[in-house]
Amino acid sequence: MTLQPLTTAQAEKTLGALYVEETGPTLHFLVGLLSQPHYRAWSLVAEGHALGAIWYQCVEQQAELLDLRVSRGLRRSGYGRTLLKETLSVIGQDDVRTVDLEVRESNVSARSLYGKMGFELTGRRQNYYPLPTGEREDAILMSLTLQATEKLE
Ligand SMILES: CC(C)(COP(=O)(O)OP(=O)(O)OC[C@H]1O[C@@H](n2cnc3c(N)ncnc32)[C@H](O)[C@@H]1OP(=O)(O)O)[C@@H](O)C(=O)NCCC(=O)NCCS
Repeated sequence: MTLQPLTTAQAEKTLGALYVEETGPTLHFLVGLLSQPHYRAWSLVAEGHALGAIWYQCVEQQAELLDLRVSRGLRRSGYGRTLLKETLSVIGQDDVRTVDLEVRESNVSARSLYGKMGFELTGRRQNYYPLPTGEREDAILMSLTLQATEKLE
């Protein structure tokens, strides 16, 4: 199992199944970001198959996590934690100090993972994400200082 940097072509070729029937950004949107400066993506690969992917932006000492996704049938097996932990290690080598993210209030799985990795709640955007019902739900804002991550090692 290895963490591999994603190019536009690799993402389009290998991540299609990850981004079917999901909430969150589309693969098309994420791939488009890779042509801009500062955006990066990695996939966790085993035997030629992508188990999951992570997308983020780094500008100077601040990073923003844009999406983290594990293949539906492989969840709760530690891959999400591995992807995030390895990515934070890579980001830390780039002199980044803080990593920010936003997550749906109802996303218990992701919020739990981020909390275990040391992210702390920093705010809330009310009625930010649309729901299938036509209503909206809040975005929870979380932030991590990378020194805190190192202590988790
Ligand atoms: C969030 C996500 C990436 C987690 O990946 P994963 O590989 O399933 O997570 P892991 O197996 O590494 O679990 C790590 C921790 O996450 C939390 N977690 C994962 N799945 C969970 C679930 N179903 N219920 C509650 N907590 C959960 C737990 O804290 C878990 O630690 P534990 O196993 O010690 O209890 C995955 O559920 C996913 O792809 N979700 C859809 C996309 C998404 O919502 N991404 C987040 C966008 S902000």
